[in-house]
Amino acid sequence: MTDTILILDFGSQYTQLIARRVRELKVFSLIEPCTVSVSRIKQLKPKGIILSGGPYSVYEKGAPKLSKEIVRLGIPVLGICYGMQSIVKMSGGRVQEASRREYGRAPMYIDNHDDLFFTMPAKMISWMSHADKVLELPKGFKRLAHTVNTAYAAVGLPKKKIYGVQFHPEVVHTEGGLQIISNFLFRICECFANWQLEDYITQQIGEIRAQVKKKKVICGLSGGVDSSTLSVLIHKAIGRNLKCIFIDNGVLRRGEVKNVIKVFRKNFKMDLHFVDAASLFLKRLKGVIDPEEKRRIIGHTFIEVFEQEAKKITHAEYLAQGTLYPDVIESIPFFGGPTSKIKSHHNVGGLPARMHLKLIEPFRTLFKDEVREIAKLLGLPEEIIHRHPFPGPGLAVRIVGEVTKERLRILQASDILLENIIRNRKLYRELWQSFCVLLPLKSVGVMGDKRTYEFVIAIRAVTSMDGMTADWGKIPYEVLGEISNTIINRVRGVNRVVLDISSKPPATIEWE
Ligand code: XMP
Repeated sequence: MTDTILILDFGSQYTQLIARRVRELKVFSLIEPCTVSVSRIKQLKPKGIILSGGPYSVYEKGAPKLSKEIVRLGIPVLGICYGMQSIVKMSGGRVQEASRREYGRAPMYIDNHDDLFFTMPAKMISWMSHADKVLELPKGFKRLAHTVNTAYAAVGLPKKKIYGVQFHPEVVHTEGGLQIISNFLFRICECFANWQLEDYITQQIGEIRAQVKKKKVICGLSGGVDSSTLSVLIHKAIGRNLKCIFIDNGVLRRGEVKNVIKVFRKNFKMDLHFVDAASLFLKRLKGVIDPEEKRRIIGHTFIEVFEQEAKKITHAEYLAQGTLYPDVIESIPFFGGPTSKIKSHHNVGGLPARMHLKLIEPFRTLFKDEVREIAKLLGLPEEIIHRHPFPGPGLAVRIVGEVTKERLRILQASDILLENIIRNRKLYRELWQSFCVLLPLKSVGVMGDKRTYEFVIAIRAVTSMDGMTADWGKIPYEVLGEISNTIINRVRGVNRVVLDISSKPPATIEWE
C-alpha cells in the first residue's frame, strides 16, 4: 500500500507546496482542511501529519484550532509556523506576539541533530515569515534549533514524535529544507518512498476498465497537456470505447487542428470526432467587443456544439475531465482564509450536469508536473508535454476588440513566428507563456518609401510557477529585435511591435 502523509491546511499560501515537496520525495500526500474529522483521518491511515502555516495568530478570535484528538492519535506530527504555534499552545506552552516581525532569510543554529535535523550542518539559512513566536515550551518539549531573534525556531517532543518548526522548510530559500522534510518522512514517520507514477498509471487503467466496462466515455480534447494525457490514459484502458471530441472554434493557433488530428488520430489511433465549428463561433463573435461577452459566447457555443456531437455517440455513459488537484483543493469552501478561493472550471463547466453523464477524473489528486510526467511515461510528444497553457476562449481574448477573419490571420501569422523564435532561442521552457496580442489600433509607418497605416502587435511573455502570479519575461534584446523584425517583415498588416512589461498582479497574463 502507498504510504500517505496528510497535510492539514490552516490557510497557508504554501500548503500545496508542502504537498508537492512530499511527493518529490516519492511519498503520496493529501491535503485536508484543518477542520477534518478524526474519523476521516483514521480512514486515510496517514503515516504522518503535517500542519501548515496560516495567516492567523493563535490568540485571535476565530483563529482555527488544532484538535487535541488529532495530536493524540499516535501519528507523528510536524507543525510548520502556525502549525507549530498551535501545537505549543495546545500542549500548555506560551506563544506571544513578537516585538519584531521576522521575515525572510535568517541564519539558524541547530541544537539537536537526533531526528529532524539529522545530517544537517550546525548552521543553516532558514526562511521565516511570522509575527508571533513561542516564548515558553510545554512540559517535555525540547528546543531543537534557534535564531538570533527566535529562541525556539524548532521544537520537539521526540518520545511522542511531535515536532514543530517556526520557519518554512518547504520553500527553496530554506537551505536543506527538503532534507528536513525527508528526515520527518523517513526517520520519524518511517515512510517508504513508494509513490510512483508508473504504478499510478497501472492502477488507474485497472480502475477505469472495471468502472466503465463496455460503456463509452466521451472526452473533450483540446491539444493541451491535461486533456491530451487524459485521453491517452483512458485510451490505454478502453481503446476505441473512448470517444474524443475536438472542436475547432475558429480561434485556435495556426496548425493546431492539423497537429491534433495527426497526433491523436494517426499516431495514437484514437476515435477522434473532429467538429469544424469555426464559422459558427466567428458568426456569433461578429461585432462583439466586450471581453466577458466574448468569453460567454465562446463558452456557451462550445457546450452547444459539444452536446450536439456527444448526442451522436450511442451508449455514452461517462465524461472524462482533466480536473487537477489544485482545482479540487481550491474549490473546497471550508475556511475564510486565503486557500478558500473558489475557482470555477472554465472550459467544459456545466457539461456533466446537463448531459447526465458520470464523471471520470483520474487526475483529481495530481499536480500539473505529475500530469506532465505521466504524459512522458505514456509517450506523448515533447511539444504537447511542455506546451504553454492556452486559454479556452483562445485567440479571441488576444485580439483586443472585435474578432475578424483578417485580424485572426494577422495574429495567427505573428504568433507562430514568435513561437518559432522563442523555441529556436531555447527560451520556451523558461517561460510560462509567450504569445502575441493584436491591438485594435493602427499606427503610421514607412516601408519602401511608402507610408503605411497598420496594426500593432504586442508581445506578452511571462515567467510564473502556476499562472496565479507572474513576472514579465526578460527576453534578451537581440531576440526581441529578431521577433520585431521578423513579424514586421513577414506579416502583412503589421508595422509596429511593442513589448508588454507588466507583472501579475496588477495586470493579468491575458489582455482580456
Ligand atoms: P490571467 O489572464 O487570468 O490568466 O492572468 C491566468 C492563466 O489562465 C489562462 N487562462 C485561461 N485558461 N480558460 C483557460 O483554460 C480561460 O478562460 C482562461 N483565461 C485565462 C491564461 O492563459 C493564464 O495561463
